[in-house]
Amino acid sequence: MKIYRAENYEDMSRKAASIISAQVILKPDCVLGLATGSTPVGAYQQLAAWCREGDLDFSQVKTVNLDEYKGLSPENPQSYRFFMNQNLFSHINISMENTHVPDGLEADSQKACQAYNEIISSMGAIDLQLLGIGHDGHIGFNEPGPAFEQETHCVTLTPLTIEANKRFFEKAGDVPRQAYTMGIKTIMHARKILLVVSGQDKAEILKKAIQGPITPEVPASILQLHQDMTLVADEAALSLFTE
Ligand code: PGA
Repeated sequence: MKIYRAENYEDMSRKAASIISAQVILKPDCVLGLATGSTPVGAYQQLAAWCREGDLDFSQVKTVNLDEYKGLSPENPQSYRFFMNQNLFSHINISMENTHVPDGLEADSQKACQAYNEIISSMGAIDLQLLGIGHDGHIGFNEPGPAFEQETHCVTLTPLTIEANKRFFEKAGDVPRQAYTMGIKTIMHARKILLVVSGQDKAEILKKAIQGPITPEVPASILQLHQDMTLVADEAALSLFTE
């Protein structure tokens, strides 16, 4: 595992954007696995700036996102499709038909998950998967549990995740209780993984995930087994790390 120590959030975002942009330059028709949440926003802004300046070309890039709330439409400002359009896709020269997010409006979970698995396999391998980490160690919406889930599945969000995500909604009661998420096996099949982490509040879970035992109770701990895994984290997030 490569670990890049960033000074702060801005530095973390620039470093992460540099790694993503290197992937796009080296393979212009690459498949990027993308993530939502607050952590990647700075990296997305940097990528958008480089694209605007003509230094980065997304015209052949394909993307596949980790997850989506079940029941939210793409037009709903809390949906992850809306988030991706707002924070990245509408600022870069990507073809919208090359961007993929699970279909939150498909009420039949089995259908939604199967359709998303088919989209992912039709793209071949994910070249670079970007990830954030939740306070309970989730990646995508793969919550702690008795086993690592394999492919796209429907999850019931844990109270901790609902609590963490309620900041985007008017009240906790508005946070959807379920979501569709890419599974751990699919994430682990990505050729490269880039985990971005910022802030003191993530220090404890980051230490557990990277330096603790590998267990489905800390889903991100599986990343220790990935062959090409890069962690970009700021000083605050790394503050409990032992060298
Ligand atoms: P955050 O979310 O970037 O908003 O902290 C991370 C996650 O839940 O994966």
